[in-house]
Amino acid sequence: MKWTAVVMLSLACASAVVAAAGPDPIVATRQSSMKEMAAAAKTIAGMFDGKLAYDAAAFKAAAGTLRARTGPALIAEFPSATLGAPSGARLEIDQARSEFEALARHIGTLASTLAAKAERAPASITDDMRMDSGPAMGGGSLLGKRPAAAEADPAKAPAEHLLHLILQDCSSCHSKFRQKVL
Ligand code: HEC
Repeated sequence: MKWTAVVMLSLACASAVVAAAGPDPIVATRQSSMKEMAAAAKTIAGMFDGKLAYDAAAFKAAAGTLRARTGPALIAEFPSATLGAPSGARLEIDQARSEFEALARHIGTLASTLAAKAERAPASITDDMRMDSGPAMGGGSLLGKRPAAAEADPAKAPAEHLLHLILQDCSSCHSKFRQKVL
């Protein structure tokens, strides 16, 4: 029937358009989310390292970006049909969904904690925002104890320490679930 032929033709055109338009829009969106997170993390790190002038509003905006792009939002950006080449998302994400989602939620909790701190951030950087501050654990190996304390209660960790924990989650996920593509 002529009608069927028209439908078939338009379907063929639609898929040709998708192919010509390049990457899946979901893939393109998640890659730009990831780039925004990288820029946000770099901004915050730069302010703590003194490479960038501290600015409370910029800190708040960057931490807000990390919060908005992690947790459920990150999970939603990786539906099964979009995994594998040509994207940088490994097919293993589907086989290890619970691990992938746990990482996304873990970084989401850290990012929310950081964003809440950033919302109350003072006009200039204070010592208690820095990595080497935080409650003294009493005697001996302070360095050994602090990371564990921060894991148990991220809200007590200084902002700089939270950033480092966030960056660890970026790397953990990438080493397991991201692949190099040409
Ligand atoms: C739960 C897993 C997960 C977490 C957490 C995660 N990423 Fe990613 N990231 C990925 C995957 C998977 C890709 C590959 C995506 C693709 O190519 O479709 C990726 C890609 C990227 C890219 C490359 C984007 C591009 O242009 O192709 C950058 C940059 C990046 N991530 C930065 C970060 C930063 C910074 C963080 C932490 C603040 C982070 N990611 C946290 C899984 C994660």
